[in-house]
Amino acid sequence: MSLISKPANGTGNDRDPIIDLQDVHKYYKTAAGDFHALNSIDLQINSGEFVSIIGKSGSGKSTLLNMITGIDRPTSGEVYVNGTAVHGLNENRMARWRGKNLGVVFQFFQLLPTISVIENIMLPMDFCHTYPMRQREKRALKLLELVELAEHAYKLPTALSGGQQQRVAIARALANDPPLVIADEPTGNLDSKTADSVFELFRNLVAQGKTIIVVTHDSGLAKRTNRTALISDGEIVNEYVSKALPTLTQDEVWEATRCAKRLSFEPGTMILTEGANADTFYIVTKGTVEVILPRPNQSDVVALQLGPGKMLGEMAFFHDRRRKASVRASERGPVDVLAIAYDDLDKLLSQSEVTREALHQMADKHEAENIRLRGVPA
Ligand SMILES: Nc1ncnc2c1ncn2[C@@H]1O[C@H](COP(=O)(O)OP(=O)(O)OP(=O)(O)O)[C@@H](O)[C@H]1O
Ligand SMILES: [Mg+2]
Repeated sequence: MSLISKPANGTGNDRDPIIDLQDVHKYYKTAAGDFHALNSIDLQINSGEFVSIIGKSGSGKSTLLNMITGIDRPTSGEVYVNGTAVHGLNENRMARWRGKNLGVVFQFFQLLPTISVIENIMLPMDFCHTYPMRQREKRALKLLELVELAEHAYKLPTALSGGQQQRVAIARALANDPPLVIADEPTGNLDSKTADSVFELFRNLVAQGKTIIVVTHDSGLAKRTNRTALISDGEIVNEYVSKALPTLTQDEVWEATRCAKRLSFEPGTMILTEGANADTFYIVTKGTVEVILPRPNQSDVVALQLGPGKMLGEMAFFHDRRRKASVRASERGPVDVLAIAYDDLDKLLSQSEVTREALHQMADKHEAENIRLRGVPA
């Protein structure tokens, strides 16, 4: 029996995401009418990813997590977790399914105060009958060793500090060795040093193959994850905008997304043509594009392949507003981009001089690279 096993993908296919939300809407009924808490959420998370979800209070973060854990149901749309259609499970099957597939960690730990730390950790194993009775205590102790609390096993949770209680809650989340850990503000009630150690523990678990999704208010902590999804008024803001333009504030990222058009290209189709007039900046959000450069007396060459979060059109924006290269969607699959008109980009950059400066430097660097790849002396 291994303590933390490397999960097999329940979808049976390594390329399928372990979490897949498709066009999820959630309305809450309120006295003032229906409140649209989640608006057309599409989110795919692959096995082994460490993802943070950030956004202002009331933006819909907990509502989104509740869709994934099955604590609540979408009004419409589909939620697949580790190969199971969560939106279709009935209450009876849900609790057991959750017990085996997900570890959930809350802001206020939610340990049972009247039983010992180790009993708290054994509870999910008892509930799901996942390990033989005689192994459960040993496993719980091992999990407590993992979170460095073995000497507190037989104390009541209230005898522990907040940070220690949260580590117990994480050990409990791992009781049934689930492939996924979902944590809603797990460090919201902890000082920054303790918060740091919780994230360090998460990183170790991710290194062992777990998939972790964590909601946080702390953008510093979010940076320690591999990927950040920003939610605003119930909508997911495209994460690749902040990847491409990391110096924008959350509000500016939101504004950029608002003024961007989503465009899709079939595999192999042309997106930009060298020499054409340029009036739009692009951020790749799905698939791969190929940058094609003509070389004197030689055949054209695919000089670069750019994936999600990479940009196109920054050189022409700062220089002579003509395309510096041709770009096409790779043959391997469709490409999605966000298109931002230069006028809108200009407005955005006038609010964020630091981003203008960063983008300008990037444009200069790409220009130099462009010249080098063509084999023309600079
Ligand atoms: N059961 C409910 N009934 C009505 N409205 C609700 C319900 N639960 C949440 N809401 C509303 O839905 C919106 C999203 O709530 P949610 O709890 O998901 O936000 P959050 O991003 O987690 O906020 P916080 O950072 O404060 O935890 C809020 O405006 C909230 O008031
Ligand atoms: Mg919340």
